[in-house]
Amino acid sequence: MRFRNDLTWADVTPRPLWLNRRVMLAGAGALLATPALATPALARIEAAKSAFSTTDAPNSLEDITTYNNFYEFGTGKEDPATYAGGLTTDPWSIVIDGLVDKPGTYDLADVMKDQPLEERIYRFRCVEAWSMIVPWIGFEMAGLLNRVGVQPGAKFVAFETLVRPEEMPGQSSPFIEWPYREGLRLDEAMHPLTILATGLYGEPMPKQNGAPIRLVVPWKYGFKSIKSIVKISLVAEMPKTTWNMLQPGEYGFYSNVNPTVDHPRWSQASERRIGSGLFGGRQDTLMFNGYEEQVASLYAGQDLAADY
Ligand code: MTE
Repeated sequence: MRFRNDLTWADVTPRPLWLNRRVMLAGAGALLATPALATPALARIEAAKSAFSTTDAPNSLEDITTYNNFYEFGTGKEDPATYAGGLTTDPWSIVIDGLVDKPGTYDLADVMKDQPLEERIYRFRCVEAWSMIVPWIGFEMAGLLNRVGVQPGAKFVAFETLVRPEEMPGQSSPFIEWPYREGLRLDEAMHPLTILATGLYGEPMPKQNGAPIRLVVPWKYGFKSIKSIVKISLVAEMPKTTWNMLQPGEYGFYSNVNPTVDHPRWSQASERRIGSGLFGGRQDTLMFNGYEEQVASLYAGQDLAADY
């Protein structure tokens, strides 16, 4: 487990932040049934279990932390695990600005204040037609937005990742116009499935997965789930997003998982579940990645082939 070498409590949110009435730290010996988790140096975070979780079996911690997309560290799937160790994630602050009542630069501790952490086991579907099941730890984006006060003119939320080329070697390549950017419509951001994740598998977020805080929007392709967030802006107009800027014909703003709308260069009808071997594990992709019941109403009346 490469990330274990570089992940300590000093790298993440100060310990008391993980505590609230629904969250407690278990001793290092607790819940170590999975051999991959048997690292005595790290305390576990026990969060409330969420009713939003899937019952699908989670991928291994190894799969989740060694097969990543985080282009700030390179374009190879193993690059984030290899190079993210040098990223400084403490201190960490997030600028919240635009059409909000309480704009400001918030410490991570303040962003997380009073937000109940939950374990959410979500299906995660990458646009590259692979998928994983990830036990995230996080809190609802709506909780934070309600706290900072969204003003009536706000229609979208724009997100930006850290720019720090000295710690993010992939940023020396100009093929992406850094920072990595993403966006959601306000109702998508307010949806209870949308979380800001600060950990996974009961531990603080591994750096390659977007420490210390990243977005997770489970009914959209994985690239919407922006990592290592430093800026959240409430805006009136649809914001620019990295993949749409790069390839507008291939990546739209919405990017909802949709087996009936193919990527121009490949089918989206099925997916390969990571960890199930080269030949096994191909399965049908579900509309909205299986979250149709919860989110289809957000798009009532929209042509999802046009709004891809
Ligand atoms: N966020 C940033 N800042 N940079 C990235 O390159 N890649 C996206 C998304 N968020 C990316 C990012 C893509 S394409 C995917 S599939 C997911 O992160 C992968 O998340 P994971 O590595 O935690 O599985």
